[in-house]
Amino acid sequence: MAYLKSVELQNFRRHNNIQLEFSPYGNILLGPNGCGKTTIVEAVSFLALTKSFRTKKDAEVKKFDAGYFRVHGVFQNEESQEEITVFYKKGETRNVFSGKKKISKIIDYIGRYPVVITTLEDIAVVSGAPVNRRRFLDRMIGQSDARYLQSLKEYQKILHNRNKLLKDVRTDVEHIMVWTEQMSPLAEEIQTSRRQAIQQLETRVASMYKESGVGAELNIRYKSTASETSTLKSFKQSLRRDIKYGFTTIGPHADDVQFFTNGQPVRTYSSQGEQKLFLLLLKIAEGSLIKDWSGKQPIHIFDDMFASLDKKKANFVLDLLGKESQKIITTTDMSSISNNKKRTKTIRIEDYLKGEIVAVA
Ligand SMILES: Nc1ncnc2c1ncn2[C@@H]1O[C@H](COP(=O)(O)OP(=O)(O)O)[C@@H](O)[C@H]1O
Ligand SMILES: [Mg+2]
Repeated sequence: MAYLKSVELQNFRRHNNIQLEFSPYGNILLGPNGCGKTTIVEAVSFLALTKSFRTKKDAEVKKFDAGYFRVHGVFQNEESQEEITVFYKKGETRNVFSGKKKISKIIDYIGRYPVVITTLEDIAVVSGAPVNRRRFLDRMIGQSDARYLQSLKEYQKILHNRNKLLKDVRTDVEHIMVWTEQMSPLAEEIQTSRRQAIQQLETRVASMYKESGVGAELNIRYKSTASETSTLKSFKQSLRRDIKYGFTTIGPHADDVQFFTNGQPVRTYSSQGEQKLFLLLLKIAEGSLIKDWSGKQPIHIFDDMFASLDKKKANFVLDLLGKESQKIITTTDMSSISNNKKRTKTIRIEDYLKGEIVAVA
């Protein structure tokens, strides 16, 4: 099992320089608001996914008065170690290195160290707009299927070109159809992968949900804007509407996922606490799917997730993860997490800040 052994952040948001060693099992990052806990898991996201889960802009992540940031991590594999460095210099694009060698094909790197990150903002996967659920699916499948990521990238490129033509006042239908024909096999491939993923996800979440004692029945459905049998036909059928609106109105970029518990939509029907538990189960199922697909146990990160969850549920969720996986959990307050877990390392961030003043919000 691969795990993240250590991390070093330089000029990364509030951290000038901080170095942490992780346990291969449980890790709790403890400290008051503003001490930089989320920042540390954001750095882990850079190491595993080569980017932040908080922002698209690397300039935002760089310590505001510095010229660059650097994140360095050591991953421990079965028999070897790999050092990954992410370096961003003001005005340039980020580079990722394995040892001293630059990784040029990022798409092939993603998934080498799979990670499942859960933050409070992810509640949008359950209760927010469809884009959040599409992103969830794409990240889940993408970490164990590089081909899926490639198809998605190509699809988005063609979609962009097609939309540009649709916006044009002179409607060049022939040209639009060229893009449509290139787009539909990709759309079908993406939708098929997503449907299969959803099916497997449903099986896992449903059994955990039953075990949790909260409810009995759980369903997850892929809600497609295109026909399951012929995407090309669907694209052709919606062409007039696409021209009218000036963009492509159907396709995987417009699809959604629906969650139901006991026959009711979770998005509108469930309480906040139920939605939070649902999200946690979803993320644990995501991790177990990634493990089955890729053979790799992902690192689980939970940022501030256990604060408002009762201890019984928090323990239920943590037990589901098992002892063998690496977990990084941030919290301001130990009382929400049972600390009788043996193989868990508690890291007090303030001990690493060398007397820096922490603003308590
Ligand atoms: N680019 C940046 N440069 C310097 N400080 C930053 C930057 N971005 C955020 N911060 C500071 O980092 C702190 C928040 O860190 P965060 O990781 O969210 O803390 P925590 O999760 O422990 O509450 C805030 O004080 C914020 O002002
Ligand atoms: Mg935080």
